[in-house]
Amino acid sequence: MIKLRRTLSLVFAAVLACSPAFAQPAAAPATSTAADPWYNHAVIYEIYPRSYQDTNGEGLGDLNGITQRLGYLESLGVDTIWIAPMFPSPQVDFGYDVSDYDAVDPQYGTMADMDRLLAAAKQHHIRVLLDMVLNHTSDQHAWFKESASSRTNPKADWYIWNDGKPDPTNGKAQNSHQGPKGWVVPPNDWSSLFQGSAWEWEPRRGQFYYHFFYKQQPDLNWRNPAVEKAMFDAMRFWLDRGVAGFRLDAIATLFEDPSLKDEPLTGRLDASGFPESNHVLTSGLPQVHEVMHKMRMMFDSYSPDSYPNQRLLLGEIYVPSTAELATWYGTPESPELQLPMDTFVGFHTEGGGNVRSENVRLDLPHFRSSITDMETKLGGHQPVIVFDNHDNPRSIDRFADLNNRKYDQTIARLIAAILYTTKSTALTYYGAEIGMSTHTPTRREDVRDPIGITGWPKQKGRDGERTPMQWCPAPPTSCFSTNPKTWLPVGDDYPTVNVETETADANSLLNWNRALIAIRRDNPTMHSGGFTMLDPTNPSVLSYVRTPAPGSDGHPIVVSLNFTAQPQIVHLDLKPAGVTSEKAKTLLADDASLQSVTTMSTFTLPPYATLIAEVQ
Ligand code: GLC
Repeated sequence: MIKLRRTLSLVFAAVLACSPAFAQPAAAPATSTAADPWYNHAVIYEIYPRSYQDTNGEGLGDLNGITQRLGYLESLGVDTIWIAPMFPSPQVDFGYDVSDYDAVDPQYGTMADMDRLLAAAKQHHIRVLLDMVLNHTSDQHAWFKESASSRTNPKADWYIWNDGKPDPTNGKAQNSHQGPKGWVVPPNDWSSLFQGSAWEWEPRRGQFYYHFFYKQQPDLNWRNPAVEKAMFDAMRFWLDRGVAGFRLDAIATLFEDPSLKDEPLTGRLDASGFPESNHVLTSGLPQVHEVMHKMRMMFDSYSPDSYPNQRLLLGEIYVPSTAELATWYGTPESPELQLPMDTFVGFHTEGGGNVRSENVRLDLPHFRSSITDMETKLGGHQPVIVFDNHDNPRSIDRFADLNNRKYDQTIARLIAAILYTTKSTALTYYGAEIGMSTHTPTRREDVRDPIGITGWPKQKGRDGERTPMQWCPAPPTSCFSTNPKTWLPVGDDYPTVNVETETADANSLLNWNRALIAIRRDNPTMHSGGFTMLDPTNPSVLSYVRTPAPGSDGHPIVVSLNFTAQPQIVHLDLKPAGVTSEKAKTLLADDASLQSVTTMSTFTLPPYATLIAEVQ
């Protein structure tokens, strides 16, 4: 689908041109202290390595492709990249099924390519995070092969094995198997997040093994100290090579309740028709916090007094409430993750989310309350909100105005403004900066993600948000690959939605993102100021003010966002935030009419417009 572009006003170009922040070519190395560590201000950019840049004509991205694009990332203002798993893998879950933690998958390159990438990233002032999959391995990992081979091998207890319970139907029940003592079925009703029972039969052991995700992703037994040691060693292997830390995959699901009781059912069937269980006994168990603390201690032992080199634990956390999210930071005596992800603002997962959030909309009350929670209810810890990743339809589609898709780009600007102007660490996903949209396959035979193959047509999988990066307007692959056959098709909007075209257009979404990142980095109030919601009962406009930190010479910065398709007249009272002046000047806005804003007491926001103004 070719996206209609909003005719942008001159104001954006004008404001950009005179903004000193925009003149910067490259990210400076972030300062970092114990009290104000680098990751609080980082712009973390997730790269799905299969889809970023192909350099060897396989139609599949590779590590050298990432190295080649570091200059682009630096010019955007990105200072940290998170590379989704690039370890050897049968690629059932595209790398989230790891078969060797200490190597690089040959389809992405070699260890020498990785070392070159790490060295080049340093030159570009970019830190590199890898994606550590601790909950499970591939069923092709040597550990699992050994564990599955018998009940007595040295790794027999490395995974979650169970005899099952007697099957009263003697083999007629679903998932019934002939065990050493007769017919057995799985020990309980636990469901896999990726459809079907979470238990899979292994004839060589005459036992079931447990898998929270695909059956090719058996869960490790974290109650076995040898497992913990092996995984800590794998992390050390990469920390020693110079990675800045890890995004921890599915970290809440490390432990299962040993009672193996049934979980309550949600009342829904998954796309394969299996009753979904509510993962209360398989996610968020207390033991995981002990492991997180130990891991944090290990990470902190790297370069303890060198804060720029402090290693980061960024956690993929889907929990039901902000209060529960807050526990993932640990306590001052027992710290855990520095950045557990807040999925409430961007994915609306309160009450218990899963890894895919399809039915969320641009809903102002939700945004206001979840941003307030993120700013005020995390016990002063650094938040990190997520709008886009490789598991969810892209935010440009989720938050689109379905009555009038001409506003897609404008709404994308509004979402980017929230991403870069709150106190949250900024976490973004490749392609969001140019407005890449979700290209969900329309035919089952084109689907690559197994969830989409088994779940079709109810669940079409995650391919739509994983299509190749759109670099230039040239057919057929938008400069992603020299091979016209790419692993997933390039989105058909690439002639207009691409880096080259948008770089040349001062009013593009890409340059809007550049400007936001620059303001966030260079403006002292954005960098370290406070946050207060304004006009909290306005049903149409979200406004907040960032206030200068005590002793700072920065000015208050007001952000005002129209969540509707109608123009909105806004009257802001800044006094609740302790700001007495109403005089202001536009720092960044996406409509010409906002160029003349001089006061916060009255201004009119066009549909879905964003205004960022500095109080004088
Ligand atoms: C995480 C990943 C997802 C993967 C799953 C299993 O949720 O983000 O892509 O399929 O874990 O590893």
